[in-house]
Amino acid sequence: MNSCARALLSLCSVLCLAGTSSSETVNLPKAVDITWSSINFKTILEWNPKPSNYTYTVEVSSPLSNWMKKCQYVNDTECDVTSLLKDVNRTYTARVISEVRATDNIEEFPYSQSPEFTPYEQTILGKPVIESFDLKKDSGKLHVLIKDALTPYRFGNQSFMTVRDIFKNDFVYTVFYRKASSSGKKQESSPSNEIVVNVEKGESYCFFVKATIPSRKTNRDSQDSDEKCTESGGNNEFDLTILVAVITSVVLIVVIVVLSVIICKCRKAKNEKTKEAKPLNSAYLLQSVTTQ
Ligand SMILES: *[C@@H]1O[C@H](CO)[C@@H](O)[C@H](O)[C@H]1NC(C)=O
Ligand SMILES: *[C@@H]1O[C@H](CO)[C@@H](O)[C@H](O)[C@H]1NC(C)=O
Repeated sequence: MNSCARALLSLCSVLCLAGTSSSETVNLPKAVDITWSSINFKTILEWNPKPSNYTYTVEVSSPLSNWMKKCQYVNDTECDVTSLLKDVNRTYTARVISEVRATDNIEEFPYSQSPEFTPYEQTILGKPVIESFDLKKDSGKLHVLIKDALTPYRFGNQSFMTVRDIFKNDFVYTVFYRKASSSGKKQESSPSNEIVVNVEKGESYCFFVKATIPSRKTNRDSQDSDEKCTESGGNNEFDLTILVAVITSVVLIVVIVVLSVIICKCRKAKNEKTKEAKPLNSAYLLQSVTTQ
């Protein structure tokens, strides 16, 4: 036990010395596994390992710019660098510096360089969101309205840019649709976020949406949106069932009211008859009690 404790103590003193001695700072662990994680232009740089006794600072540059600092002296292993990547067509490089807050700036701290990253080419398109849809069963047209996703970037007037504002004509949505009763899929693409699909009259449909950037060689498609079915809301049949339910309950209420009025009147009429009879009855009763 004693020798074990002594060994631990000596190990600790070695580590503590390494931590405090400034001549050793160049031996700080370097960041590894640096990756860019980016969806709809929100971009986070991630790396390993978790720091102990030191911190990280991130710097980003593109061929035409100096190194710009972000997340200075952090204990994290991630950094939101979105604000440094506004020129989305540029190719950026980041470096993650391992450092301790030093008073003398002569010290060169170790760093690792990230892979290159071009937001326009590499940001992943988020799962599209279907804002609304409408199936006109009599004319056989399925209208689908898709919400253009917002990016973290703003116009001069402070409103957020959508992915469409950045990709412009280099952006299409595709609706994949099928009859609710079968699995055979068809598709319809459009550069607009409002898509009208011609479908068979009287049928119900299920569909989902995908966004695509045609100019890309990789990462062209977004994830699939959630699947929607025309039975589950928003279409004519649904409205009709509500209408039928409302009419039925109104009719029921009217019937109940009318019936109760009639019943009430009958009762009143009866009561009046019995009232006339009652005094006589009680007089008879009194008489019969007294005579006994
Ligand atoms: C980015 O590049 C694409 C094609 O490479 C081009 O169509 C688009 O206009 C560029 N966008 C900006 C903001 O420069
Ligand atoms: C802000 O500017 C953009 C582009 O000029 C425009 O599309 C958008 O409608 C504007 N938003 C507001 C709230 O004025």
